[in-house]
Amino acid sequence: MCGIVALIGSREAAPQLLEGLRQLEYRGYDSAGIATVAVEAGCIPARLHCLRAEGKLVNLTARVEAQGAPGLCGIGHTRWATHGKPEERNAHPHLDGSGQLAVVQNGIIENHRVLREELQAKGVVFKSDTDTEVIPHLVARRLAELQAGGLLASGSLLLRAVQEVLPLLHGAYALAVVWAQAPGALVVARKAAPLLIGLGEGEFLCASDTPALAGFTRTILPMEDGEVALLTPLGIELYDAAGERVQRTPTLLSGTEHVADKRSFRHFMLKEIHEQPETAALWVARHLPEPTVGAAAPLVALPLDAGLLDGLERVQLLACGTSRHAAQVGAYLLEQLAGIPTDVFYASEFRYAPPPLSAHTLTVGVTQSGETADTLAALAMEQERRRQVADPAYAPRLLGITNRAESSLGRLVDQVLDIGAGIEVGVAATKTFLGQLLAFYGLAFALAERRGGSINGRSPEQRRALAQQLRQLPQQLRALVDDHDRRCEALAHRFAETQDVIFLGRGINYPIALEGALKLKEISYIHAEGYPAGEMKHGPIALLDAQVPVVSIAVPGTVFDKVLSNAQEAKARDAQLIGVAPEGPDTELFDVVLPVPEVDELLSPLLTVIPMQLLSYHIAAHRGLDVDQPRNLAKSVTVE
Ligand code: M6R
Repeated sequence: MCGIVALIGSREAAPQLLEGLRQLEYRGYDSAGIATVAVEAGCIPARLHCLRAEGKLVNLTARVEAQGAPGLCGIGHTRWATHGKPEERNAHPHLDGSGQLAVVQNGIIENHRVLREELQAKGVVFKSDTDTEVIPHLVARRLAELQAGGLLASGSLLLRAVQEVLPLLHGAYALAVVWAQAPGALVVARKAAPLLIGLGEGEFLCASDTPALAGFTRTILPMEDGEVALLTPLGIELYDAAGERVQRTPTLLSGTEHVADKRSFRHFMLKEIHEQPETAALWVARHLPEPTVGAAAPLVALPLDAGLLDGLERVQLLACGTSRHAAQVGAYLLEQLAGIPTDVFYASEFRYAPPPLSAHTLTVGVTQSGETADTLAALAMEQERRRQVADPAYAPRLLGITNRAESSLGRLVDQVLDIGAGIEVGVAATKTFLGQLLAFYGLAFALAERRGGSINGRSPEQRRALAQQLRQLPQQLRALVDDHDRRCEALAHRFAETQDVIFLGRGINYPIALEGALKLKEISYIHAEGYPAGEMKHGPIALLDAQVPVVSIAVPGTVFDKVLSNAQEAKARDAQLIGVAPEGPDTELFDVVLPVPEVDELLSPLLTVIPMQLLSYHIAAHRGLDVDQPRNLAKSVTVE
């Protein structure tokens, strides 16, 4: 949700800033802008070059190529609009009245209205509707006061002014500031929004996320909450919120998975759907050891501390969007496989109406990005309210399930289950959803084994049989993805003009119906709803007619016959029926079958989700839409 970059060093900043923004464009693409500081003929103040453009990054790139943005230091921003329409005047960077100071920000300044009114009362004229614009005005005014007191312009003065302004800002932010009077300095700060510093040779690149740094350096220094840094070509001065100097050792970015590459696929989303067999193969290799005869080896190898899992009585899952759908499947697994009571919450709701505290409870934050503000805030609140209780039974136990172990989530929770799916660029989550599901299978197996003789859940023999079936998953997924890619492409034209689609599922496949509807909505802009199939007759059935396709997930198991009956009810109202089901006499009622192999019902979501993803993808692609960057959305939602 907005991406920021900032560079200082000894080469032209603009090309690297644009490249960084290209890597961060998945975070927002309503507008983009950069500001560079160029010392011309040795003159101070230097000249600030600020270029901004509405729409995607290509528009800004064209402007930079045409007009130029010289300078060895600069900041950049790609925007997902919160305050103010996606117009050029609301694009970042925002400047102070003199045009000498520029700021980019990711987050929300919650008290911006009050600050704006105070500044306006002092004669400040605002040029945008954004919350961010208060920052350059506040910093510039503080700088003017300090200079009036006899202090000379310098990077240290800029740092001091920013440090003194930050306590006035309420909310979450990551920001970068440059000042034409201190052209060799860059000041960055973060509070509850991500910001990383990449260490190059005689240069530093700051960014909201690792993809912007991957081609620049592997040595990074993730900033902690409340920290502020002054960067010059000579080094970093890092300070905590109290203004104390901080020394921290940088870390190394691992692997090559931080680099985004579409390969020969038309869209990142399609590539990421096709990568799911590898996601599964990696998970099987890491966590499902081959059974050894006679040995009491665990079914799953999950690197979790005993302190998190011992004596657990309850699990609560916090997540948003697709991650919440994974959590809903997870809850089903934890209850049905491991026999442990589990609740799922929208993270955005949990924070403001938390349930009564329960003892011996594991709280799991599920977020592929590890940066979703609602999920982080809910987890932090849970951690805090449990810390207030003296009884150790209520002590916080926090686990994160994420694709970004190095994210803010990773730093907040006690332990992380890294789904290791590799970078996902498409805004619509696909392979990370599968990775989250697999993490829940692992967790459910681990808890089931730990609870051994539990009266609930599946027996050890049933669990062994399930684990054996799971080993087939990578091959099953390979065949399924290839097959449904062709089938869904051929089918897509039939739904290109459809207005509404209903997705039905029951039991463990109800969240997959929700996920199918969400995928279709977000990338094709077709209205879609997911329902528990048995709920249709309690209202939504009134929507059905020949114009409303119904996608029904009907797999053998506890509710197979019931789902087929619910599908019949829809057919009787002339709905076009698409069945995600095994082929055979039972499923002949469907107009179209998207076949899935028969597996234990508990494993079926790992397969039924594939036709959902591919159907949505091909409908959106057929409609000629921007599948990877759908309107109004962003990959990582770092505002509440
Ligand atoms: O990074 P997270 O998993 O926390 O993101 C949560 C949602 O914003 C996300 O799943 C969103 O619903 C996706 N666009 C779904 O495709």
